[in-house]
Amino acid sequence: MTRARPRKRGLPALAGGSITRLPSRTSSTIAVLGAGGFIGSHLVPALAAREGTSVLAVDSTFDKLVVPASGAKRVERRQARLGDTGVLEEITARADVVVSLTALCNPALYNTRPLEVIDANYTDLVPLVKLCAARGRRLIHFSTCEVYGRQALDRKGRRQRQMDEESTMLCLGPVASERWSYAAAKQLLERVIWAHGVHAGLRFTIVRPFNVIGPRMDFIPGVDGEGIPRVLASFMHALMTGQDLLLVDGGRQRRAFVDVGEFVDAVVRIIDRPRACDGQILNLGSGVNELSIAALARAMIAAYRVARPEAPRPKVRPVPARVFYGEGYDDSVRRVPSVGKAERLLGGWRARRKLAEMLPAIIEDYLRRYEAAVLAPPPARAAAGRGRGQGQGVVG
Ligand code: UGA
Repeated sequence: MTRARPRKRGLPALAGGSITRLPSRTSSTIAVLGAGGFIGSHLVPALAAREGTSVLAVDSTFDKLVVPASGAKRVERRQARLGDTGVLEEITARADVVVSLTALCNPALYNTRPLEVIDANYTDLVPLVKLCAARGRRLIHFSTCEVYGRQALDRKGRRQRQMDEESTMLCLGPVASERWSYAAAKQLLERVIWAHGVHAGLRFTIVRPFNVIGPRMDFIPGVDGEGIPRVLASFMHALMTGQDLLLVDGGRQRRAFVDVGEFVDAVVRIIDRPRACDGQILNLGSGVNELSIAALARAMIAAYRVARPEAPRPKVRPVPARVFYGEGYDDSVRRVPSVGKAERLLGGWRARRKLAEMLPAIIEDYLRRYEAAVLAPPPARAAAGRGRGQGQGVVG
């Protein structure tokens, strides 16, 4: 099993910096960057439930973050953007562990706003990596399954069934296929983190999430965001508004979906197992929920019809990728994780929940939060959606 092993102890050179390594403390402070986003809003309550943990929750908005009263005293909300002056210095001075979730991880942006995507997923985070290394802070960074690219290929270019941390190549498309701007930025940040681990003593774990789904994912267009959200919210929007569910290029692409609750359980295990997980790259995903996007549409329609039997029967319709996402879009044709390494390092953790078990609660949550706003006339809709911003934690 490949792990980053430090070749040289010592501090990395920080341009113009005079940062010194700070002593560890006995109580543990975990900074969650992107705490107000989808995954952050599930992770922070799970961490806050633990005695002896203080959570420094950082984001630009916290509308999605609800912490039960029993854990609220352990959570400090710090409303800020990572680029604000002094914020990264403050976080790395105060936290023992930094969980870095912030990202622009919506495929509709990769070919339409690639410069912002590259900055959010690479440029803005390099200083965080350097500060964590310089100050001896443990970094748990969320990368993406997209680093594997279009499909799973081994070192000889042969197809693999699963994407594997140790043996799968990272095969992105041409530069003109701007879809891969995101994956390239994420991959380069992984390499920066790895190099700091090997050459500058950084303690890190890199997580590659595979299609995490659950309540509070993304946004609904016209209510609390604009544009095209990821497929779950896209299909929910279509279901709630009575529009056709659009299958990009016919919906033959395949994904494996993992429940956010099981995913968060794995992240907590990573935090609790520094010896096993330091210097490691881990896929986190499901080995049981692989299906095509067309099959996902059918499953969501079936679950929606249970929740809203009176609604008109939803329909699906194919749409060319170029029409749906614009020039420069490309796609992963099949994306299924190898989960053996995570199972070994995380004490037998395994994602077991089936899609059909997850969908009813997810659909109920979207209906509760959005149905009235979606069906309201436009001015009322804008008012209903006001204040439900995305924050920075829109991690993939
Ligand atoms: C995205 C991010 O790029 C990943 O970093 C992230 O790990 C992943 O989501 C995730 O949710 O964890 P992707 O799976 O391509 O990757 O994102 P989606 O927007 O959810 O699309 C999934 C598939 O559904 C794609 O093939 C897309 O073309 C298709 N799709 C999407 C539709 O057919 N119809 C829609 O309305 C939306």
